[in-house]
Amino acid sequence: MKTDLFDLTGKVALITGASRGIGEAIAHLLAAYGAEVIVSSRKIDGCEAVAQAIRDKGGKARALACHVGDMQQIEDTFKNIRANEGKLDILVNNAAANPYFGHILDTDLGAYNKTVEVNLRGYFFMSVEGGKMMREQGGGVILNTASVNGVSPGDMQGIYSITKAAVINMTKAFARECGSLNIRCNALLPGLTETKFASALTQNEKILKKALTVIPLGRVAQPEEMAGTVLYLVSDASSYTTGTTVTVDGGMLA
Ligand SMILES: NC(=O)c1ccc[n+]([C@@H]2O[C@H](COP(=O)([O-])OP(=O)(O)OC[C@H]3O[C@@H](n4cnc5c(N)ncnc54)[C@H](OP(=O)(O)O)[C@@H]3O)[C@@H](O)[C@H]2O)c1
Repeated sequence: MKTDLFDLTGKVALITGASRGIGEAIAHLLAAYGAEVIVSSRKIDGCEAVAQAIRDKGGKARALACHVGDMQQIEDTFKNIRANEGKLDILVNNAAANPYFGHILDTDLGAYNKTVEVNLRGYFFMSVEGGKMMREQGGGVILNTASVNGVSPGDMQGIYSITKAAVINMTKAFARECGSLNIRCNALLPGLTETKFASALTQNEKILKKALTVIPLGRVAQPEEMAGTVLYLVSDASSYTTGTTVTVDGGMLA
């Protein structure tokens, strides 16, 4: 029986939104388990810093800038990976936008477009391009960071929650059509996690107090607490798991 189910040695993993927060924690853990990690976000400096920190710990990592809301940058990213690593085993779609916090009736077209372009079109075409590479090489794994808001919409986060629901359905669509290509696709549903992204919630005492009343564990998650589930879902430990979601929310949805 295989005992190294989590070993990622020799695997190439692209992680978007990896310059900080949940993506950074994922990058560190996958590298610690042997993956060659491509740390990606819009700003190269933040990616370089994370890649350097991974290398300092003995891991393999490089930085690659990509704005996932920009179709040209998506195309360039995969050209770059084809030219450099020549393969992609793991794609973690994690970078997302949430530019608007307010009543759903006041959502403007700019906020709508940005949220959809990054969270929906970005995840979709990253998966399409990554999936094509995986199809050519005989398999791979896609992991989408969705959100508990994709199941139960967050107040004042209407369009964001709607895109996250779409990501859950996207996960199933890719799983169904790509299973025969040996490509698995699953989603992580984080609950409230202490990052810059969630600071409008976690740094506001009134909002935080209210949020904690519906979290059985009674606290906000740390980014590192998301990474273990991702390691499971991208490794052989979950080899028969596809088209599903794993909720990591301190019990909130319960
Ligand atoms: N924190 C939470 O409570 C929570 C809860 C549920 C789900 N999530 C999900 O978890 C994921 C990560 O969020 P986080 O909380 O870790 O946020 P974070 O700490 O603010 O990090 C966001 C990351 O995404 C990158 N990014 C933002 N826009 C991008 C774009 N258009 N293209 C490429 N990279 C982009 C940022 O770097 P640059 O600025 O350099 O681009 C950064 O690396 C998101 O999908 C979010 O929806 C978070």
